Amino acid sequence: MELSPPDPVDALAATRAGDPAGAQTTLPEMQTPLPEMQTPLPEMQTPLPEMQTTLPDALTSLAGALASGPRRVLGVAGEPGAGKSTVAAQLVTALAPRAVLVPMDGFHLAQAELVRLGRADRKGAPDTFDAAGFVALLRRLREQRPGDPVVYAPTFDRALEEPVAGAVPVDAAVPLVVVEGNYLLLDDGPWAQVARLLDECWYVEVAREVRLERLVARHVAFGKDAAAARAWALGPDERNAGLIRGTRARATRVVALR
Ligand SMILES: Nc1ncnc2c1ncn2[C@@H]1O[C@H](COP(=O)(O)OP(=O)(O)O)[C@@H](O)[C@H]1O
Ligand SMILES: [Mg+2]
Repeated sequence: MELSPPDPVDALAATRAGDPAGAQTTLPEMQTPLPEMQTPLPEMQTPLPEMQTTLPDALTSLAGALASGPRRVLGVAGEPGAGKSTVAAQLVTALAPRAVLVPMDGFHLAQAELVRLGRADRKGAPDTFDAAGFVALLRRLREQRPGDPVVYAPTFDRALEEPVAGAVPVDAAVPLVVVEGNYLLLDDGPWAQVARLLDECWYVEVAREVRLERLVARHVAFGKDAAAARAWALGPDERNAGLIRGTRARATRVVALR
C-alpha cells in the first residue's frame, strides 16, 4: 500500500497517489468533470436530489481492468455522505456481471448488541462494527477460486437499521469484488488488516458543504427530522469523518467528485 499522501485534485479525477504525472499521462479523460456533477446542490432539497446516472468512463475502465482476470478486491472509502455507496453501486452496475458489491456496513453490530455494549449512541463508529468478521470475509473473498462454493456477505438495511446476514451471494466466477465503507483504510485494531487485503483502495471525496447536505438529506429520507438529522451529521458522523480523513493518505487513488 502506497503511504505517501495523495495529491488533492480539484476536478473529477482519480490521481494515482505519489504519481500524478503518470495518472495524467495515461488518463487524460479523467480531467473533465461530469456535467451533471458541476453544480453544487442548493440547500436541503426534498426529495433527494437527482442522481448522476453514469460514472466517468475512466473510472469504469480502471475498475474494468481489475475485473478481467483472477479475483481482485477493490475498496472504496471516504467520509460519511461522500458517495461511496453510490459510486461503488454504479461501478458494479456498469461492470455487471463481472463485479459484485460487498458493503462494509453489513458488519454493523445488531442494535441489541450495541445497546448491551452501551454504544448505541455512537452507531457507525469503528467499535460498533464486527471488524474481525469483516477481515475474515475479505480473506475468504480473496481466496475464493473458480469452482469454489458461493461466499455469502451480509448487507445493512437502512430502514431497519440492522445488518442482514446472507444477503449478497458472491459467485466464485465473478472476478471483481467492490468493497465500500468508512473504515477500509483505518490503521487501528482489526481494521488495520483491511488495506492489505485490497488490491486497490480509492478514496472518494466531495466538497464538505455538498457532503453534509447530502448526508443530512439522507438522514431525513430515512426518518430523522431536520434538526436530528443535522445534529447526527455534525455530531457522531463528524467524529467518524475526522477519523476517516486521517486515513486518506493510505488510499491508492483519490477520486474527487462534485
Ligand atoms: N452525484 C450525486 N448527486 C446527488 N446525490 C448524490 C450523488 N452521490 C450520492 N448522492 C446522495 O448522497 C447521499 C450520500 O451518498 P452515499 O453514496 O450514501 O454516501 P456514503 O456511502 O459515502 O455515505 C445519498 O443519499 C446519495 O443518494
Ligand atoms: Mg454508504
